[in-house]
Amino acid sequence: MDGFQVVSRKKGKKAFVAKLNRSENKQQSPENISETATIRRVITTRDSLHCTDFYADFRDKMKGCVKNITCTHSGCTNGNHSMGQTVLDVIVTYGLGNFSECLIARYQLALLLAMREDLKVPPNDVLLYDPKFFPLEKEVLKSFGLQVLSENEEAKRTCEKATLFYMPHCGKSLYNNLLYANWSPDRLCHVIIIGNSFTNMVQNLPSSSLKRSAPLIMKIEPFTEEVVFPPNFQYDDVFNDTVIHIFLKDKLMSLPAEFWENCSLPVYDEDDLEFIPKS
Ligand SMILES: C[S@@+](CC[C@H](N)C(=O)[O-])C[C@H]1O[C@@H](n2cnc3c(N)ncnc32)[C@H](O)[C@@H]1O
Repeated sequence: MDGFQVVSRKKGKKAFVAKLNRSENKQQSPENISETATIRRVITTRDSLHCTDFYADFRDKMKGCVKNITCTHSGCTNGNHSMGQTVLDVIVTYGLGNFSECLIARYQLALLLAMREDLKVPPNDVLLYDPKFFPLEKEVLKSFGLQVLSENEEAKRTCEKATLFYMPHCGKSLYNNLLYANWSPDRLCHVIIIGNSFTNMVQNLPSSSLKRSAPLIMKIEPFTEEVVFPPNFQYDDVFNDTVIHIFLKDKLMSLPAEFWENCSLPVYDEDDLEFIPKS
């Protein structure tokens, strides 16, 4: 597919874990933050992001990606959708983090709010889950009309409709679970994943470790298109190593049946800092 670009090597696991620790340890306590103030900060962040060149570039890239996934609407052929038709049906966000405290998560939420509007996905069809959300954050998300999931799905959501999974800086177990739940050409072709670059994971992590901890990322990576985020965002650690992954139906269909068979989930390390299993 034209215009797709493989990402360059960027920060690896160390940076990832450092970020996790930063967002958990160095933040103001939630008691000091009010719902109204948080709503105001989110709106301000969304509005400031919306008028940047970064966002304009991102929106164009995203629209290009949406055109290239397989649409589930009758009457639409890819790249030729009916007028006014919403092509992306659902956005599911996992692992956003504590946006009331953390600037990184707040900018990531701002991007979600801006793209939801531009892609015309009804707020009701925007679902979020993070086991670390504070009650206050759930209320703030609801005030934007978004749906907060009550159950830890461990990112094992099977999708029947065109779905964007927005998973900024999530652990690889979550991406692996998502692939597992949608492990067939007929499902993956409706999926877009915004998250850490699979290419960088394959290039930077030892293959024995990736094969053990995230085998499906390793398997699908050569057949995944990665669209890099625009480089010009003001804060380095908000969208670093983040790409848009799409899966083209023709490519998926060309793989032999055995590719899709015998897929099982690994037993994840109990000390995996980036994945909280359901209790
Ligand atoms: C590395 S942090 C990323 C936070 C934020 N997006 C960022 O970039 O700073 C990973 C996030 O994944 C969340 N997480 C862990 N297990 C999860 C699960 N089962 N479902 C959804 N989110 C999960 C954590 O609570 C944490 O907020």
